[in-house]
Amino acid sequence: MDFEVRRDDLHETRVVEGDPPELERGQVLLGVDSFGLTTNNITYALVGESMNYWSFFPAEDGWGRVPMWGFADVVASEADGIEEGARVFGYLPPGTHLVVQPDRPSPSQFVDASPHRAELPAAYNRYARVAGDPNYTEENEDHQMLLWPLYFTSALIDDFLDDEEFFGARAVVISSASSRTSSALAFLLSKRGGAEVIGLTSPGNVEFVESLGVYDKVVPYEEIGSLPKEPAVYVDMAGNAKVRTAVHEHFGDELKHDAVVGTTHREELGGAKGLPGPKPKFFFAPSRLKKRTEDWGGEEVNRRISEPWLPYVEWTRGWLEVAHDSGPEAIERVYLEMLDGKSDPSVGHVLKPGG
Ligand SMILES: NC(=O)c1ccc[n+]([C@@H]2O[C@H](COP(=O)([O-])OP(=O)(O)OC[C@H]3O[C@@H](n4cnc5c(N)ncnc54)[C@H](OP(=O)(O)O)[C@@H]3O)[C@@H](O)[C@H]2O)c1
Repeated sequence: MDFEVRRDDLHETRVVEGDPPELERGQVLLGVDSFGLTTNNITYALVGESMNYWSFFPAEDGWGRVPMWGFADVVASEADGIEEGARVFGYLPPGTHLVVQPDRPSPSQFVDASPHRAELPAAYNRYARVAGDPNYTEENEDHQMLLWPLYFTSALIDDFLDDEEFFGARAVVISSASSRTSSALAFLLSKRGGAEVIGLTSPGNVEFVESLGVYDKVVPYEEIGSLPKEPAVYVDMAGNAKVRTAVHEHFGDELKHDAVVGTTHREELGGAKGLPGPKPKFFFAPSRLKKRTEDWGGEEVNRRISEPWLPYVEWTRGWLEVAHDSGPEAIERVYLEMLDGKSDPSVGHVLKPGG
């Protein structure tokens, strides 16, 4: 089974049934067990054309399979070094099966070397084997699917800000403070210290964000003018043009850097022409990961990024409710809810493709 969406009309969906594909020598058939579905996956669909997200799991002309993060089991293997029954975590289609062509297998991972993925960012082609992952626990699987990719991005931003000595700023202002990527960043920055962490959010989410306890200050979007004018860095998860303008106009020359990370406010995006202060700069997690892998090597990157992971997961247990469901109808329902922006940041959806 494959759940597909029309690339030029993301509200149109269909389910395609078929037999699991036949394997060639060197290939492995993964049976998709579960995946998380968050706003992040919707972004993959929204920028699918410009950033090649449709190329990971090709579908018939005009249709696309939105990439998800989840767990899968090896159900058949024609590849050396990959045994049937192995469980892996990685980038998966919203369907029951995926054929991969493992390369460089090690006890902790392999890379999918399928030719159509060769030019795509390496961060998405790696499959972690749970048996070789010191951070893996079965009881954390839901949290890993829902939070790991977002936490990973936040950990890279945290490292980036530290590396740049906060660009000389005393405060880090984060939009869409209620989003999981933003709250993970606030969690890491609050542990690191060295800068005040300020969250910007919608009026209806102020109470929730305050209850998280990781922001020093939480301010609704309309009240940006109430913040002290001090040297600040803006980490923009919302992509909202009005909010961006308000932040730049308020801080002016005191704004030391604007890192554009997400687009949760996709109805209110816009250009950045004529803004006072620094030019917004896109922060792309896979590019930063590539740089850190060159600096430190893959193992050291994983070690450093994983260090606060378990305390972070423990913290999220206090506020994240996990909702489980299965089958194509549930996938369609949750996907359309997310697409229409009806995402509740305190609920995480874990889906099984099999009914
Ligand atoms: N650059 C990178 O490398 C990278 C890597 C990973 C993720 N990301 C991006 O980070 C962003 C956050 O993802 P997430 O999964 O953490 O989000 P999430 O937890 O699902 O975020 C939910 C929050 O986003 C805001 N929101 C969602 N839909 C909205 C809508 N239609 N209109 C207005 N506000 C809306 C609300 O926040 P507020 O009320 O607080 O505004 C809501 O509470 C995504 O855009 C994702 O693509 C980027």
